[in-house]
Amino acid sequence: MPTPVSDEISFDDFDEINNPPPVETAFEAITETVLSRRRFLRHGVAFGASALVLGSTALTPLSARAESRFKFKQVPANAQDTVTVPDGYRWHVVTKWGDPLWSDGTEFDSVSRGTAASQLKAVGDNNDGMALFPEGGRSILVFNNEYVNRRIIYGNRDSKRPENNDDVNKGKAGHGVTVAEIVVDDGKWKIAKDSPYNRRITADTPMEITGPARGHDLMKTAKDPQGILAKGTWNNCGNGRTPWGTYLACEENFNGYFSSSIESIIPSAEMKRYGVGNKDWGYAWATEDERFDISKHPTEPNRFGYVVEIDPLDPTSTPKKRTALGRFKHENAELVLAKNGQVVVYLGDDERGEFLYKFVSKDQFKEGGDNADLLEEGTLYAAKFTDEMQGEWLPLTPETTGMRSQAEISILTRLAASAVGATTMDRPEWVAAHPSKAEIYVALTNNKNRGKKPNKGGDETPVGGPNPRAENNYGQIVRWRPKNGDHLSNAFEWDLFVVAGNPAIHRDAYAGSENVNADNMFNSPDGLKFDSTGLLWIQTDGKYSDKGDFAGMGNNQMLVGDPETGEIRRFMVGPNECEVTGLTWSEDRKTMFVGIQHPGEKGNSHYPDGGDSVPRSTIIGISRDDGETMG
Ligand code: FEO
Ligand code: CA
Ligand code: CA
Ligand code: CA
Repeated sequence: MPTPVSDEISFDDFDEINNPPPVETAFEAITETVLSRRRFLRHGVAFGASALVLGSTALTPLSARAESRFKFKQVPANAQDTVTVPDGYRWHVVTKWGDPLWSDGTEFDSVSRGTAASQLKAVGDNNDGMALFPEGGRSILVFNNEYVNRRIIYGNRDSKRPENNDDVNKGKAGHGVTVAEIVVDDGKWKIAKDSPYNRRITADTPMEITGPARGHDLMKTAKDPQGILAKGTWNNCGNGRTPWGTYLACEENFNGYFSSSIESIIPSAEMKRYGVGNKDWGYAWATEDERFDISKHPTEPNRFGYVVEIDPLDPTSTPKKRTALGRFKHENAELVLAKNGQVVVYLGDDERGEFLYKFVSKDQFKEGGDNADLLEEGTLYAAKFTDEMQGEWLPLTPETTGMRSQAEISILTRLAASAVGATTMDRPEWVAAHPSKAEIYVALTNNKNRGKKPNKGGDETPVGGPNPRAENNYGQIVRWRPKNGDHLSNAFEWDLFVVAGNPAIHRDAYAGSENVNADNMFNSPDGLKFDSTGLLWIQTDGKYSDKGDFAGMGNNQMLVGDPETGEIRRFMVGPNECEVTGLTWSEDRKTMFVGIQHPGEKGNSHYPDGGDSVPRSTIIGISRDDGETMG
């Protein structure tokens, strides 16, 4: 079995070690830049210059508003091995990794932690993005199963590694997407076993390749000589949903599953740009399934790193890989309709120094019409930001990039965005669009390489613009407004909604923006979603040491922000060593579903069952004691 770099290393650190950026940057004048940024930051969220740029739309100072829109008292940071919600709210477990979806499945076995066969009939691991689809009074919950926690799912092995083919297949089956009908039972949501909607999509489910890359030579493999049918999806992180009722699962760190049986093989420059190399992340899939061996099947990785469209109401449907939306480490897919009905999808590439993207469909959405293939054809853009709070979407075409075809741009999208000079970002995670105005937010989670190292393509990562701090370990949320409120416009204005930091120990830019204080501080914003009332929910995937630079922040958490005032308040704290990710609502909006991913990823949690139980990724339902709506 291939040897992973480390037991507890993140995907990002694995990539960094396995495939370091090409050269060190001779970075100049960090101090001076940061000092000027500090003035910029401490002038509050409206940021001096940006207030002029944004004019009357700039944030109203907190003190100028009579009353906060938040109806709860802030939850203090904590490091407890449970979920904490404000007084007046309650939570319950809806489902967790390993719960069977059918009555002929097997209840979770904490000794074996399941088999390949049991996992195929059960909820996958590491739930992430999710969406709920109401259908004739029924509730179909769809959620990504990003990856498996090796030390937990293989906790029955001394090595904490897959040791035979069944172990490997258990891992493959723990990935992908779960579709499950949920029902209320005694006031709590739970899975409806044997519902005709229940489905597991895994690393082995056939998927149609659509869009520009379909049939291209780079997509052809020995098993699929036409390049039209890929097998499986994995590392599905954030999600999207379309107005025509489909679910979008976004393939993120797809590279960590490929390895080479010949150690001396030198991966191509294109493979290196995507982090595909000779070592996998410890999954050992190539030992059971040869297509993961890049020395034998070098084009197989080109078939992953896409947005996958799934019809949640038809369990027999073939998911579709939408290559027109580009290939990179997709975080989520935030879809809005332009005024004329064209579909606009905002997309982040979550890697240090990679880019922010926008897709615009060729055709228009038609209410009640056939919209099934709107994501098959359109134009892809990458974002360029200026220090003057302006921005531009740069189209990625053969003419602008010098690449040979749209197919090549769809497969090697990072190279295309580098070619047009897009802005290298601090790891774009979720993008969220305001429900009632043209204003879009992106979480830039952190980037320790900012101002220090280029990205994997050699693009510089200077301090400035929407990435205002060197060695950015806290993250920030950037927002922009397209010109004339038109999502089709290629011009926009931007500012920073919040710059995370620790004002208890820093006095400079690392203290964060004015809407961060010792009571609500957090690090590494990741999940972002607006509720129907226009409040922005912020989920974190950060350092939970509660020490040093992160002292006072406690466990990962969920906060809520008011886009009008900049006010941010902590709503929920997760259990130990978890990340909070994934958010959706019941049809009546009285329950908010929230994902608790990888509790105890380093061995220090027994969430949700307590005692000495095996920690399990969980979806919880949160509701108000008074039965009112949750946003
Ligand atoms: Fe899977 Fe970028 O988070
Ligand atoms: Ca994420
Ligand atoms: Ca993250
Ligand atoms: Ca995660």
